[in-house]
Amino acid sequence: MTVSSLLSNGGKLVALGLLLLTNPVAEVATTHDVRERISLNPGWKFKRFEENPDDISYAKLKAWILPTGNNFIKDSSKRPVRPSAQPPSVSFAEPRFDDKSWESLDLPHDWAVKGPFLTEKYSIIGGGEGRLPIHGVGWYRRTFTATRDDVTSKSVYLDIDGAMSYAMVWLNGNLVGGWPYGYASFRLDLTPYLKAGTNNIAIRVDNAVASSRFYSGAGIYRNVWLTKLSKTHVGQDGTYITSKDVSAKSATLDLVVAVENAASKKSEEVEVVTDVYVRDTETGKLGDKPVASFPRAKVTVKAGEQESVKSSLALPNPRLWGPRPSQEPNLYVAVTRLLSGRKTIDKYETRFGVRTLSYSGDGLRVNGERIYIQGVNQHHDFGSLGSAFNVRAAERQFEMLTDLGVNSVRTSHNPPARELLDMADEMGILMLDEIFDTWAVAKVVNDFNLIFNEWYEADLRSFIRRDRNHPSVVIWSYGNEVVEQRTGTVGYNVSMKLKSILREEDTTRMCTLGANNAGPNDEFTSSMDIIGLNYQGEGRGDVGPLFPDFHKNFPDTMIISTESSSVVSSRGTYLFPVTPGNSANVSAEGFDEDNMHVSAYDLYAVPWGASPDKVFAAQDAYPYVGGEYVWTGWDYLGEPTPFDMARSSYFGFIDLAGFPKDRYYLYQSRWNPTVKMAHILPHWNWADDRVGEVTPVHVFSAADEAELFVNGKSQGIQKKEELTYRFRWDEVVYAPGELHVVTWKAGKPWANATVRTTGDAAALKATTYRERTTIKAGGEDLSFVSIAVVDAKGDTVPLASDKITFSVSGGGEIVSTDNGDPTDMVPFPSHERKAFNGLALVVVRAKSGASGKITVTAKAEGLKAAEVVLTVE
Ligand SMILES: *[C@@H]1O[C@H](CO)[C@@H](O)[C@H](O)[C@H]1NC(C)=O
Ligand SMILES: *[C@@H]1O[C@H](CO)[C@@H](O)[C@H](O)[C@H]1NC(C)=O
Ligand SMILES: *[C@@H]1O[C@H](CO)[C@@H](O)[C@H](O)[C@H]1NC(C)=O
Repeated sequence: MTVSSLLSNGGKLVALGLLLLTNPVAEVATTHDVRERISLNPGWKFKRFEENPDDISYAKLKAWILPTGNNFIKDSSKRPVRPSAQPPSVSFAEPRFDDKSWESLDLPHDWAVKGPFLTEKYSIIGGGEGRLPIHGVGWYRRTFTATRDDVTSKSVYLDIDGAMSYAMVWLNGNLVGGWPYGYASFRLDLTPYLKAGTNNIAIRVDNAVASSRFYSGAGIYRNVWLTKLSKTHVGQDGTYITSKDVSAKSATLDLVVAVENAASKKSEEVEVVTDVYVRDTETGKLGDKPVASFPRAKVTVKAGEQESVKSSLALPNPRLWGPRPSQEPNLYVAVTRLLSGRKTIDKYETRFGVRTLSYSGDGLRVNGERIYIQGVNQHHDFGSLGSAFNVRAAERQFEMLTDLGVNSVRTSHNPPARELLDMADEMGILMLDEIFDTWAVAKVVNDFNLIFNEWYEADLRSFIRRDRNHPSVVIWSYGNEVVEQRTGTVGYNVSMKLKSILREEDTTRMCTLGANNAGPNDEFTSSMDIIGLNYQGEGRGDVGPLFPDFHKNFPDTMIISTESSSVVSSRGTYLFPVTPGNSANVSAEGFDEDNMHVSAYDLYAVPWGASPDKVFAAQDAYPYVGGEYVWTGWDYLGEPTPFDMARSSYFGFIDLAGFPKDRYYLYQSRWNPTVKMAHILPHWNWADDRVGEVTPVHVFSAADEAELFVNGKSQGIQKKEELTYRFRWDEVVYAPGELHVVTWKAGKPWANATVRTTGDAAALKATTYRERTTIKAGGEDLSFVSIAVVDAKGDTVPLASDKITFSVSGGGEIVSTDNGDPTDMVPFPSHERKAFNGLALVVVRAKSGASGKITVTAKAEGLKAAEVVLTVE
């Protein structure tokens, strides 16, 4: 409910400017923090059971679980009522249960990533889900203490940012509630079951077999918080700030604050005070003084109810949020306080940005500037670290993407961690925030279809409320390749129903769907605000390109490729002959079935896909298209098309370990064309039987002219033809020695590059990612150390597969190792890893409490060892 009538200014929701902003009433400073947010990540006991150990299930306990979503069900008559009695007790949830023999661990945690890989052809978890044991029931237990004051006068909540899946939570043996969708963030009210002293919390998660098309991870894989609040407080994700009438001089900010009174009897009158601060882009610190303040408003909230308080202001000289590199991601923080009399009873911060968005038949404009979307799809896992959220791992993914020129990320196909959106806000990355892969019709038997009808509203509303203040979020997506696309009006109706919910929760952004099937004349297509096309725009197989057909029917609608390309490749693997065309079908050519590798000439797409070259040509031929989201930026666990027996995808332009494939440079040449770069493929270390064989040489560069030399002999000058994106000398004959390319742009020298036949492997070379040789104490920070197998001159030996043994001394520990080979079935925690095409990775952290130096050593038989020294800060 809106309580404009309760506003102190008489109910007018107008911008009051800055005149009314200073309030004469002095406020009482509180002696302790009025809002406590305590990490519950450390100190859990855990056990996983492959078979159901407790005879409970979502189906049996659903009556207690469904009401957890009630805050997000608009029609109060549709809110399920919780049974008055507790369900039968379960021993694992009882405080007295003896969990001493269980594993001790800290969250975030993904039980599946440590393996072992399930390598049987018909194993219970196949290639699609990464051959890792995500299935089964996991129980987590820990204790925390509460004070008498917490019990008598506070509201105490458990905030779970993500638990895979069907989470159910017990406090002191009582079932509190839960949330099935594993990608949702949710809150549970612990207060009714809280006691002074030790409290025992038990969480059960349950992953069915065939519950996902791709690697879901397993367990409580995001942060968990204990939030202690006054009875009357700002509700969960309870603020919403939007801007309008944005100019250089001013912007109108509209604020809604949801004030919740969780007391059982007493109404409370509070004053809502919100000040706006500038957030320093470099330091993240807030300015000393507010730059604006919303008019104060008083509201009386009855016990057990929630009221929304609206206010507006004119922000002078707004510093806009916009995407890098052409704009700056400036952020503000609104600090909302609730005053009861003169006492502050809650303080809540909302980060936001001021910017304008417009969407048209010509694409996206941010603050009036057309921004061509140079986007990637990203799954939620971090390769060898699994799905357990880690800030540093996420930062590294974003850093490598933005270095290349990526300006946008689609969170395929589920809500990301909260921290990922914070990072995007700070880095100026445009986010396409997606919630569902499935609606009511299944893709695999146990996916979201089972609960769509019960949960879509709560999931969708809670998702939008969680994410709608992030300026980085510029497009919502509420589905991907849903089967409903081809069900005529049935699917159209579902789409419109979801869209109407989305509109109620956010009026400022348009939304899309990833449509791989809905055609230009389908009713379903007309349900989309933005036409999101998976593959069909640039052409799928022999169909298309369909951009012109969609544009003809929807001339004013923004069109993007929500998925493009789906080229597959194994880093550093080159197969012959090379297709003469600019795009080929990987089901027919370009692969090595025995070794399960795909050629990295990066021309081989899945049958529904297209090479980057073909996608670029279609994007450029139809310049009204707003951009593309490449499938994918990084490789990810599962979906190892075209080899189901492998463990991880071949789609990324960065491999699973974080090593760029050749394609990385093709995208960089287009998306970050100021980088003076020329990249040559393949390597030049072919066996004797290739001497004299045709071995095509391709070069990726933003240059427009290039000359290739083989052992000093020119292979001719090439000019980039219109709608072509690579230099290719397809007739080169292999002879060991040296490839050298010289490039020019607009007639001026641009960049040169050399690839040499290397000598035998002689040594290992270790480097830290971005030369970052410090690591923060505490165990959360990670160091990514790359190992190259090099010859005596220091050149990486391109086919080296030496077995490397890793060790650390000092206060460090090895978290995982990898090499980017989708077929490597050695479990990720192993301290031994073969190099894949010359490279391997070790991920290291500082043990909690460690300080000083950590030495990371890599050894291989017959090679000079390598080490790096990290300093713990
Ligand atoms: C779709 O929705 C319209 C409007 O509510 C309704 O009249 C129609 O029967 C629905 N059609 C289907 C197939 O669900
Ligand atoms: C791709 O190749 C496979 C195997 O030859 C073939 O069955 C399929 O029809 C091809 N698809 C396209 C789109 O060319
Ligand atoms: C590349 O090589 C050419 C010819 O040797 C030379 O003129 C040019 O300066 C070089 N360019 C760069 C960037 O090194």
